Order: sequence, then C-alpha cells, then structure tokens
Amino acid sequence: MEGLCLNSFTRFLLFLFVFLVFSHKWQRANASEPVLELVKGFEAKPDSSIDSFQPLLTDPNGNFSFGFLRVNGSRLSLAVTHPNLTEPLWVFDPTRSASWSHKTKLFFNGSLVISDHSSRLEWSTHTNGDRLILRNDSNLQVVKTSSFVEWESFDFPGNTLVENQNFTSAMALVSPNGLYSMRLGSDFIGLYAKVSEDSQQFYWKHSALQAKAKVKDGAGPILARINPNGYLGMYQTGNIPIDVEAFNSFQRPVNGLLILRLESDGNLRGYLWDGSHWALNYEAIRETCDLPNPCGPKLGYFKVREGVGKKKSRLGLTVGMSLLAVIAVVLMVAMVYVGFRNWSREKRVLEEDNGLSPGPYKNLGSDSFSSVEMSRR
Ligand SMILES: *[C@@H]1O[C@H](CO)[C@@H](O)[C@H](O)[C@H]1NC(C)=O
Ligand SMILES: *[C@@H]1O[C@H](CO)[C@@H](O)[C@H](O)[C@H]1NC(C)=O
Ligand SMILES: *[C@@H]1O[C@H](CO)[C@@H](O)[C@H](O)[C@H]1NC(C)=O
Ligand SMILES: *[C@@H]1O[C@H](CO)[C@@H](O)[C@H](O)[C@H]1NC(C)=O
Ligand SMILES: *[C@@H]1O[C@H](CO)[C@@H](O)[C@H](O)[C@H]1NC(C)=O
Ligand SMILES: *[C@@H]1O[C@H](CO)[C@@H](O)[C@H](O)[C@H]1NC(C)=O
Repeated sequence: MEGLCLNSFTRFLLFLFVFLVFSHKWQRANASEPVLELVKGFEAKPDSSIDSFQPLLTDPNGNFSFGFLRVNGSRLSLAVTHPNLTEPLWVFDPTRSASWSHKTKLFFNGSLVISDHSSRLEWSTHTNGDRLILRNDSNLQVVKTSSFVEWESFDFPGNTLVENQNFTSAMALVSPNGLYSMRLGSDFIGLYAKVSEDSQQFYWKHSALQAKAKVKDGAGPILARINPNGYLGMYQTGNIPIDVEAFNSFQRPVNGLLILRLESDGNLRGYLWDGSHWALNYEAIRETCDLPNPCGPKLGYFKVREGVGKKKSRLGLTVGMSLLAVIAVVLMVAMVYVGFRNWSREKRVLEEDNGLSPGPYKNLGSDSFSSVEMSRR
C-alpha cells in the first residue's frame, strides 16, 4: 500500500521533471539564436511572447535578419529587416499575411514554404534547393550545394532596392500603402500613382540622358541598378550606363550600403548606411508641393470628401429633426394654451357649478404627446 503510494508519487515527480525539462527545452528552441543557414527539415512557428520580430536567419555580418515580422498586432509577414530601419527591406508578399498563431508554419523542404490554413495562405518559393541563406547585402537565397541560386528575394522587390540589385523592366517597386509604383519604360524611370484598380498616372519621369551610351532599338529592355559609387544607373547592355542619376554621395569615397525606397508619400528616397545610421542621400522629388498628394494620399482625399458628404447629410438630418421638434413644441404650446383656455373657461363654468374636472386638459396632454411622437417619425 505504502509502496504503491510512493510509486505514484515518484511517478508524479518523474512526470514533473520530464515536463519541466521538456518545457525548458521547448522554450530554449523557441528563443534560439538566428543561424547562418537553414537546411531541409527546418520548421518554425511564431512565438506568442514576441511582439515585433522573431529572427530565424542572419547574414554573415549580423547586419540583416530574416524571420517573422509581427504586423497589425496579430498578423505575420515573412521579412528581411535591418535593426535600424523601421520598415522591412523585403516582405514575402505585401498584400498578404498569415496569423501570428500556432496555426502558422514555416518550413524548408527544398522550397521555403509558409502555410496558415486559418488565413487560407500558402506561399512557396517552388524550388528544390539545399539551403536557405541570407547574403551580406540582404538578399535571401535558396541555393544548391553547387552554389547555384534557385530563387532570390532580389528578384521580388517590395518597396526597396539595394545596392547592386538589378531592377528590371518586369519589376515594380510599390509603396507600402500600395498607391505608388516605380517602373522602367523603354528609356526612362517613371513614378506612377494608382488612379483606379486598372489605371496608373505618371507624376515623375526621369529620361535617360544617354551621354555615355545610347539606347539601341531591339537590344532589349533597360535595367536600373544602384552603383556603389553613389548613383542610380540605367543600363541596356553591358556596364556602361545610359544614365546616371546622382545621389549626394556621388563620387565621394564612402564606405557604406546604399538603398532606394519608394515611400508612402510617393517620393523615391535614397539612404546611406554610414556605420551608425541611415542618412538621407537622395530625393527624387525635392519640393513637397510636387509630390502627387501633398495633402495626403488620394485615398485620404476621397475619404475626406466622403466625410464632408456624410457631414452634410447629418447636418440636414439635424436641421430636419430640430424643425420637427420646434413644430411639435409650438403645437404643444398652442394645444396647452387652447386647453388652458378651455379649462379655465370650463373652470369658470364649473366654478359657477361648484365642480372640478381637469379632464379635457388631460386629454389634450396625451394628444400633444402623440403629436410629438408622430412628428418624430
Ligand atoms: C495592416 O493594417 C493596414 C490598415 O488597416 C492595412 O492597410 C494593411 O494591409 C495591414 N497589413 C497586413 C499585413 O495585414
Ligand atoms: C541600431 O540598432 C541597434 C540594434 O537595435 C541599436 O543598438 C542602435 O542603437 C541603433 N542605432 C541607431 C543610431 O539607432
Ligand atoms: C515541400 O512542401 C510543399 C508543401 O507541402 C510541397 O508542395 C512540395 O512538393 C514539397 N517539396 C519537396 C521538394 O518535397
Ligand atoms: C559580402 O560578401 C561578399 C562575398 O559573398 C564579399 O566579397 C564582400 O566583401 C562582403 N561584403 C561585406 C560588406 O561584408
Ligand atoms: C545584375 O546584372 C548584371 C548584368 O546585367 C550581372 O552581371 C550581375 O551579376 C547582376 N547582379 C545581381 C546581383 O544579380
Ligand atoms: C554591417 O556590418 C559591418 C561589420 O559589423 C559594419 O561595419 C557595417 O556598418 C554594417 N552595415 C550595415 C548596413 O549595417
């Protein structure tokens, strides 16, 4: 009897011990340090205790991280971030997100796959690589052992272009609010504002100067690339630019990384990492008044108009209600007055009769109430 008791107590202790060790291990696994590469079999889920960013992978210099970015409180995006930039350098899909819950799973099985059935999300790189790595320029790559690159985030930019990243005429930079985009034409860089679901409008155009090289018909589309010497170059063939759009650091020997972003006000800005912070290095549109919507994005403008319309109709409703109320009050006063006159006349009659009957007054009162109710309808 006693032996059994001790036995179950021991078993309980053993269970507690195993549980503690297991939960400790589990916690340790969750709070693991980001690694330099992810191989086949890797799996991760978001940690509920993290409220901003959960790193999974880092570049060799420890400058950039790839991981789960918590957005809008409970949503999850896959992102490449830099600790001193508030907005990520890259996101897997600016229009979609998963839930920050145990239902979301990220794994690498040759493809990098994220799935969340509760958000009906399944995204994959559709590759058959051996490793996932983050390069020292923030480029996320699925590579084979032979170093052959099967997929890279540089081919799918969001709103940011990084030094040496090739921006082709098939790509677009899109501002985080989805209103503005940067695209290449046959011999120019254009910034466009979204006017409706399927129409875009120019608000800034930079044509190639073609000083060092000319655009040749039939030689293929152009591409743009940030040159470490401090400019955004446009190229058609080879490495001789058809245009040089200079940044502030142009031809100044600086040792830092350059990036270019299309921001939510529609401006295209360049930043230079000077070793401690990101310094503004270029602005396509210098005058605030030249921005597509200096008083806020177009969406906001329509929202304001909608608000004015709503206000107007609300004002109309208020005026109408007040008018009805005034009419009701006037009617009530008139009825009370008439009633009072009738009553005092009757009172006089009754007084002469030596009786008292407030009846008609009461009736009038209830009549006036129903008239108020009617006027409210
Ligand atoms: C976050 O919220 C904003 C505003 O409601 C919305 O425009 C955006 O799409 C949301 N982002 C994600 C990733 O859900
Ligand atoms: C850059 O980020 C690191 C890590 O979060 C932080 O320690 C540092 O203070 C930041 N520097 C600036 C200039 O914000
Ligand atoms: C990886 O997983 C996805 C989703 O489950 C699947 O469609 C794909 O075939 C898998 N790829 C490999 C190489 O096993
Ligand atoms: C980045 O990595 C490349 C090799 O992949 C190397 O040549 C280069 O010096 C590195 N740059 C920095 C800033 O570490
Ligand atoms: C960009 O394109 C050029 C050729 O046009 C190529 O030499 C270079 O390797 C490409 N850069 C990247 C990062 O893919
Ligand atoms: C990357 O790391 C190196 C070495 O730690 C540092 O000198 C450099 O400023 C960092 N660059 C960025 C963009 O953070």
